[in-house]
Amino acid sequence: MGPFRFHLFVCTQQKPEGIPSCPASGSFAVLDALDREIQARGLNNDVQLTTCGCMGLCDEGPVMVVYPAGVWYRRVQPSDVSEIVGTHLRDGKPVDRLVWNDAPAMKAMSVEHREKFRDAMAAHEKAGMLPDRLDQMIRGYMPCRCILTALELDIFSAVGDGANAGQIGTRINANARAVGMLLNALVALGLLCKSGDDYKNTPESARFFVQGSKDNHRNGLLHTANIWHRWSTMTDAVRSGTRIPIDRDDTPEWTRNFIAGMQRTAKDRAPLVVKTLGTAGVRRILDLGGGSGAYSIAFAKACPDVQCEILDIPEVVPLTAEYVSKAGVLAQVSLRTGDMLQDDFGSGYDIIMLNAICHMFSEEQNRDIFRRAHQALAPNGRLVVQDFILNPDKTGPQHAALFSLNMLVATDAGASYSEFEYTHWMKAAGFTEVCRINLPGPSELIVGRVK
Ligand SMILES: C[S@@+](CC[C@H](N)C(=O)[O-])C[C@H]1O[C@@H](n2cnc3c(N)ncnc32)[C@H](O)[C@@H]1O
Ligand code: FES
Repeated sequence: MGPFRFHLFVCTQQKPEGIPSCPASGSFAVLDALDREIQARGLNNDVQLTTCGCMGLCDEGPVMVVYPAGVWYRRVQPSDVSEIVGTHLRDGKPVDRLVWNDAPAMKAMSVEHREKFRDAMAAHEKAGMLPDRLDQMIRGYMPCRCILTALELDIFSAVGDGANAGQIGTRINANARAVGMLLNALVALGLLCKSGDDYKNTPESARFFVQGSKDNHRNGLLHTANIWHRWSTMTDAVRSGTRIPIDRDDTPEWTRNFIAGMQRTAKDRAPLVVKTLGTAGVRRILDLGGGSGAYSIAFAKACPDVQCEILDIPEVVPLTAEYVSKAGVLAQVSLRTGDMLQDDFGSGYDIIMLNAICHMFSEEQNRDIFRRAHQALAPNGRLVVQDFILNPDKTGPQHAALFSLNMLVATDAGASYSEFEYTHWMKAAGFTEVCRINLPGPSELIVGRVK
């Protein structure tokens, strides 16, 4: 007897376009519908829902198997899900009209598929073709660029409740023919739907990309759109060893989008960081480069006795003030305009935070900040670095290795660093009990204490 009454495996094997596959026949929609229906019927603790790779029955997809009995279903559609969950997973009776139990035919199809696949791979290999994995990685910029352009032009808001290419083109002041091409590509990417000549937002794009939606991420994502232009300078940046200035740099709009982008991540992580560090004995916090103030705001909300001070550059502090004021914690969070590379930090802090800061600076600059932070902390005070931490050989994790290049194209001398480097710099600055704290998500904490 397994840990669950039923265990479902739904095939979600992605295949190149034009090749039959369960995702091409809608297995992700089925998976989604199953998840919702299982929850709605309160069967979460009885049923384990898992995705799986190709079972060789791709022409009959979406395919799924239900264990422990090993019942195979084929051509499942979202409209079948309610019956499968109600009849099979609740009452224990498989839905006969969808069951596939012709074992010899299934085996023959699966074996034939395997052989065809091997032959195709061998022919690919012999012809010296670029493997699909590399090809897709190299062309990964195409979907990315479509979405970023759509966000820059605010296409999803312009689509509104539904409109044709001409109407959308007029709304965003762009060429109707080109807008039509972009809209069609967005449909192909699953971000819009098309009916006749009219385009509509999907529930996802309406939620995340349309102005006025509570969960609209567009402003934060425009920072990613800005960063795209920097990434285009990478070849020259690698040659020269530092960032190449571009026209769009540091305009007020750039800064606003940058801080919105930072806030998007920080506001979710901040309560977790506060919980991890705790507020016992914490009265004064210095938040260096606090940006949107998300971490100070979370500390202030977690403990009425905590006073936070945010130091940031003149262009950012007015934006910080907006976020702090909106959060209603002005009495506990004060703002200071300055340069953390030069200004005196003050003294007597219980915590000094460097959230997403160290990667902007060189080793020497970080060492200097750590030294000055050590002097500014009270006895037993803590220096907290939150960042993407590289493995000792700096080749992973992938996000940290890629982010290092983000810093190459965007800063004078920034990079991602390893735990060894942070620990070494903290100890050299006088910190003791230096430790790494893993958090869910890509960034982690390195914390050092003043004796
Ligand atoms: C990557 S953001 C991180 C913001 C915030 N700590 C967070 O995690 O959301 C870096 C912040 O450092 C600020 N900053 C950059 N250079 C600075 C400097 N020399 N002095 C003070 N702040 C600086 C930026 O304006 C920005 O708000
Ligand atoms: S892709 Fe699902 S069985 Fe092959």
